[in-house]
Amino acid sequence: MQARHLVSIDDLSLDEIRELFRFADEFAADPRAHAGLCPGMIVASLFYEPSTRTRLSFESAMLRLGGGVLSAADMKVSSTSKGESLADTVRVVGGGYADAIVLRHSSEGAARLAAEYSPVPVINAGDGAHEHPTQTLCDLYNLHVERGDIKGLDVVLAGDLKYSRTVHSFAYALARFGANLVCVPQPGFEMPEYVLQRLREEFGVEPVRADARRLGSLAAKSDTMYLTPQKPHQLSLFTDARGWEVEHVDAVYMTRPQTERYRSEELSETAYLRLEKQALQADSLRDAVVMHPLPRRDEISEEIDSDPRSIYFKQAARGVPIRMAILGMLLGRLELEAPLAPRVRDVAAVVEGDNPCPNPSCISRTETRHVLPRVAVQRPSRPGQSLRAFCAYCSRELDFGFIGCSTTRHFHRPDSSDLGKMRTDHMVFLADRESAQAQGFSPAGPARSGEPV
Ligand code: NCD
Repeated sequence: MQARHLVSIDDLSLDEIRELFRFADEFAADPRAHAGLCPGMIVASLFYEPSTRTRLSFESAMLRLGGGVLSAADMKVSSTSKGESLADTVRVVGGGYADAIVLRHSSEGAARLAAEYSPVPVINAGDGAHEHPTQTLCDLYNLHVERGDIKGLDVVLAGDLKYSRTVHSFAYALARFGANLVCVPQPGFEMPEYVLQRLREEFGVEPVRADARRLGSLAAKSDTMYLTPQKPHQLSLFTDARGWEVEHVDAVYMTRPQTERYRSEELSETAYLRLEKQALQADSLRDAVVMHPLPRRDEISEEIDSDPRSIYFKQAARGVPIRMAILGMLLGRLELEAPLAPRVRDVAAVVEGDNPCPNPSCISRTETRHVLPRVAVQRPSRPGQSLRAFCAYCSRELDFGFIGCSTTRHFHRPDSSDLGKMRTDHMVFLADRESAQAQGFSPAGPARSGEPV
């Protein structure tokens, strides 16, 4: 049987996530009582970036399940420094050394690539600024414990929304659960367009202007946005020129500046958002829990550590039982009844031409020997709409002018109705007419017009 991986939070259905919560509740109730679940099994941590919580909580989880751990906490001292590829590394580690691999990497899409080569389950412990699904499970589990039903909750996402992978995975999951997102970005570090687009198009979330006066000093410097999966059109009837009034918040999720990912021009002198005692006095935050994936720098004042609403240390502690549940599931020791998450996009390998991914931080730019640039295709839902394509590793939308068919050698416009008949694995993504013709494609449709259809 093929190994099941956890690369994106979308790899799990909502019912599966709820089942993982139930197992985590059992593990949390008596963490020392489950050493019979994974004896004789080993998990390997391969960390190409620093970590405290994610690696140690996974290792603690595996030890509590009665298994063992192989810990490569700094891959710089591994054969990576001799030029070994990620694909070879996971084939070796997964080929007898370990029964599952927990991988953290600085390139976006690294875990997806590792999953293609690893014979054992790969768990994404953070891939660049892209996703961090197990932190999201931890964050959702915390909301579930503290607040019960996640649907309808109002969750503030604050700080560096551009580069925080924890925010991106959390936003996708919150939207799927039907929670509302109140984005309070550090100026210049707003939620990336590719994340917003996905929230809109796949999860039906609409941005509504937000009136953040009631959020007080927390949102004073920020251009707040309200993202809701709930009947946005109707909602807009109730918003005035200032936008939807954020009256009551259930959780504030603060994040640190991800300075290790900044380009030099992004390092600024502008003060970073800071949650202080006074900010927590805002009426709308009176019963909001304060969360943070940690590590924190100065964005949460230590003054509020003792406030009963501050749960960030409890949040980190709950990382162990939820990771016990994740390991138990992926190692085949916990039976889940819920149906698998449906696949939203059809994935195909690009068999010709250059790598179409525009993202310089994508794994497809560095593991060039092992990567067949994979494309996730989203076919139009209405006639006249264009077919869209995304890098299947890092999720970035591809920019292309035409789509060629590798068998007929014709090329078509992205809104052509002919694409309905073309198999995804026959599609070749072409930048423009010149490169189409240079690669031997001719325009589809009546030869006379010379215009592809
Ligand atoms: C986060 C990460 O690595 O993305 N840390 C974690 O896993 N708890 C958040 C961060 O580093 O800011």
